[in-house]
Amino acid sequence: MKKIAVTKIIKNARQLVTLHLPNKIGPRGGRAMSDLGIIKNGAVAIASSRIIAIGETSKVLRQVAVTRRTKIIDASGLVVTPGLVDCHAHPVFAGNRSNEFEMRLQGKGYLEIAKAGGGINATVKATRKASPKMLFKNGIKALDEMLRWGATTIEGKSGYGLTLKDELKMLRVLKKLNREHHVDVVPTFLGAHETPAEYKDNVDSYIGLVCGEMIPAVVEENLAEFCDVFCERGVFSPKQTRLILQTAQAFGMKLKIHADQLHSTGGAELAAEFGAVSADHLDCISNEGMHLLKKANVIPVLIPGSSFILKSKKKAPARKMIEDGLPVALGSDLNPGSSPIHSMPITMSLACIQFKITPAEALCAATLNAAYAIDRGDIIGSLSPGKKADIVIWEAEDYRDIPYWFGKNLARRILKNGHDVKL
Ligand code: NIG
Ligand code: FE
Repeated sequence: MKKIAVTKIIKNARQLVTLHLPNKIGPRGGRAMSDLGIIKNGAVAIASSRIIAIGETSKVLRQVAVTRRTKIIDASGLVVTPGLVDCHAHPVFAGNRSNEFEMRLQGKGYLEIAKAGGGINATVKATRKASPKMLFKNGIKALDEMLRWGATTIEGKSGYGLTLKDELKMLRVLKKLNREHHVDVVPTFLGAHETPAEYKDNVDSYIGLVCGEMIPAVVEENLAEFCDVFCERGVFSPKQTRLILQTAQAFGMKLKIHADQLHSTGGAELAAEFGAVSADHLDCISNEGMHLLKKANVIPVLIPGSSFILKSKKKAPARKMIEDGLPVALGSDLNPGSSPIHSMPITMSLACIQFKITPAEALCAATLNAAYAIDRGDIIGSLSPGKKADIVIWEAEDYRDIPYWFGKNLARRILKNGHDVKL
């Protein structure tokens, strides 16, 4: 059999954390989340942008053809993992809300600040004023930082425009970021992030605008893969959320919901009813909601960053979810209000500490399960032959170091589509 010539080999990794389990496809819940498929003294062989072989170093070297042009990376003493996947983020925005941080420290609530003209609508004001060029520049900075911490694919939401023109502006910026930045950006339309100030007394007509004009225009220009709604007390009710999801689904969009974040509103139940790809936040999810998510194969995306920043009393019942077999995923929720966090490793640390999940579960939630939460489980999220060569080499002896060294960036070298990325 002719051996395949490889363009790159990473060899001698102290731990090659593959998350590749040959007999197990799909997102993982329960004990399978802790089975990381670790290969000691491991190697991964790459041909162009794809992984073609993984295994113990001497075995891989026998399996493939190493030519003069093969670049060899020695990962002795280091940990190698799949690129991290940030499956929930709001990376495009303008303005600054550090004043709200101080208000919250003085005891004001997140929804209270929003009602008084701050919150999402404060960012909307600044984002409407910003040119596409400025938003793109801000977006590049955000993506650079996310990538530096090991995220090679992210989801990015609109939702700070809230007019047809400004939502399209945001989505076009996300599309350009996807084209021009190393990081892959999966775009989500979040026109129902909040009711803009000018519609405050007429939420239904804003929903009319979202359903009647925004969704058709977004689909027409092929600007978003997912549609998301912030289903929350004082934002969009389950009834209003249902209308938006029905329209998005009729237009062929895949669905996500900001569900049960601050109150138990039935968001998870709705996500199950609509067969959403993911239900996100879930700090206040009901037992019934959990049961329905499992039945409908909806991925629970947990957001330890916003629970931490907002000091939420209720925390997503991550342990129960995992033990019930739900494939928990993690997102940074990077945004200028509830989660000013660019880092997936910090998100993992917070998940371990606040949600009592283990470092192994956190890594599975930040790679494979997160890939499924954005419907990319077939091409990223594990070091599997055939998948994209999105790989992080960590300055670490053990994968547990990644969430353990809180706030320390251990990512040393990053490969995206098989190519070294300058950090
Ligand atoms: O995911 N929950 C709604 N949206 C964001 C907050 C956005 C903001 O405060 O600007 C979130 O937490
Ligand atoms: Fe969010």
